[in-house]
Amino acid sequence: MSFDPDKGVSMTHYFTDNWENIQNFQARPDDILIATYPKAGTTWVSYILDLLYFGETEHQKDVPIYDRVAFLDIFIPSVLSGTDMVDNLATSPRIIKTHFPVQFIPKSFWEKNCRVVYVARNAKDNVVSYFHFDRMNIAQPEAGDWSNYLHRFMGGKVVYGSWHNHVNGWWKKKQTYAKLHYMFYEDLAEDTGREIDKLCCFLGLSRSDEVKKRVTNGVHFDNMKKDNMANYSTNPFMDFKISPFMRKGKVGDWKNHFSAAQSEQFDEDYEKKMTDVTLQFRSEI
Ligand code: PPS
Repeated sequence: MSFDPDKGVSMTHYFTDNWENIQNFQARPDDILIATYPKAGTTWVSYILDLLYFGETEHQKDVPIYDRVAFLDIFIPSVLSGTDMVDNLATSPRIIKTHFPVQFIPKSFWEKNCRVVYVARNAKDNVVSYFHFDRMNIAQPEAGDWSNYLHRFMGGKVVYGSWHNHVNGWWKKKQTYAKLHYMFYEDLAEDTGREIDKLCCFLGLSRSDEVKKRVTNGVHFDNMKKDNMANYSTNPFMDFKISPFMRKGKVGDWKNHFSAAQSEQFDEDYEKKMTDVTLQFRSEI
């Protein structure tokens, strides 16, 4: 993993080796980009959008979500390239996911005025989820122990860099780019139906109450967890014996991981980095 605390963002080669093709990527005006810091609810929102657009088709039954929603950033030589995946998507619109901080997004998304959905999750639950993901995903750097991991996260030394810079950078973008819908994991957990209504509004989709109800039910944690096309059980990079991808799906699980001292130190550091009072997170609901 490369890291320059002054200039750079921590990355692994899986997300930098296709850099030129990614930066030159040509978006289409109707492309929809789902952007998140890792573990903020990407799959949840991917599944919602997939069902809202293509819910009546058969492909949910035999194509995993990570093949229906293409991951732009990824590059595994001779196996997988995110840009090729997007180019090969047969759907219209194409739904694309990225974990890049806002400054790395290919400029054609902005030039083509594409709709972007950004999902953010409170930092404490986000780091816990990321810790377990790094334990079980063989393509990610070793997680190490929790205490060490937490410090690395606070210093931005995990893949995709600083959570604080990520959520702040995208929040700032929202002030100048109208087609950006900034949403929160906690709001989705609190009232999925309400957030689906907001998404439909943003996307200009009119869907019947019955369809929206079906989507709300389909993306419930318990249903996604047992759906092999949504739960990543078919992904060869993940060791479910260590931890499942659909792990807990809760707001507030951080309380089972942080000691009182860790929480205090985390909050102190958080206050220094999160100075924009207009961006507020809830770490419990
Ligand atoms: S990734 O690898 O970055 O794409 O992961 P991502 O999908 O962003 O985040 C995974 C976490 O989201 C939880 N999740 C859900 N929570 C509630 N309801 C639903 N339907 C849902 N789907 C995914 C998933 O369980 C991971 O969080 P944790 O806290 O680890 O359980």
